Amino acid sequence: MSMIEPSRVHKDITALPTFHHLPGIGILTINSFVLHAEQPVIVDTGTSNDRDKMVAAIIAACGDTAPSWLWITHTDADHIGSVAPLLEHFPRLKVVTTYTGLVKMGTHSPVDPRRVRLLNPGETLDLGDRTITAMTPPLFDAPETTGFHDPVSRALFSSDCFGAILPAGTNSINDLGADELLAAQTLWTSIDTPWVVKVDRSLLADELDELRDLAPSMILSAHLPATAAMVDAHLAGIAAAPFAKPFIGHNQATLTQMLQGR
Ligand SMILES: [Fe+2]
Ligand SMILES: [Fe+2]
Repeated sequence: MSMIEPSRVHKDITALPTFHHLPGIGILTINSFVLHAEQPVIVDTGTSNDRDKMVAAIIAACGDTAPSWLWITHTDADHIGSVAPLLEHFPRLKVVTTYTGLVKMGTHSPVDPRRVRLLNPGETLDLGDRTITAMTPPLFDAPETTGFHDPVSRALFSSDCFGAILPAGTNSINDLGADELLAAQTLWTSIDTPWVVKVDRSLLADELDELRDLAPSMILSAHLPATAAMVDAHLAGIAAAPFAKPFIGHNQATLTQMLQGR
């Protein structure tokens, strides 16, 4: 894991990325965010391996204003690694998730239901200076997944959707050409949502049009280095995903070779 390198990607948003090397594949970004609304929102919390550094980074990013909400986009291990220590550190913090998310967390890291705010897609959360609406991203790898659109920054928090696996040695999509970005996004999408080749492409296109109509200023995926640009490229990347070759991971022979090369 790399050091956490916080960046203020908008006056109201801090991104807290970590970068993880996937041998033979590339670099996976795992982001948490803080939305500095009147009632601040932490969005996802990284892996348990990164817990201590991530908790410290989130606390530092929040500054003097204790966060009100901890939005868990879904309960995969790379999103909930610091839920428990954050709930302990911020006694008024509440987890935002769906009922499925609450039940799934209960199987390994239960959260007191009194500290949960259930929010289904289409329902809203009042943050004092703005109201955000839960939405289901076009692609997802867990049924409880929700993201949201912030009407002030116009950022779209998209959970795993719109992620990318970057080429080794890269940690910014600004370093990539258009074809490289498309390949990076297609690789992630084919790994995370292999079922995308089965979707009704016109329905997917309709969902992408709905997002386009929101005119997001930036797409903040859990697995994409945050940038304000390239929204159209990201939308095009998802539209192209159903046509991509399904991902097949390393086989045992390759793993054995890797282990021998240590
Ligand atoms: Fe996931
Ligand atoms: Fe993820």
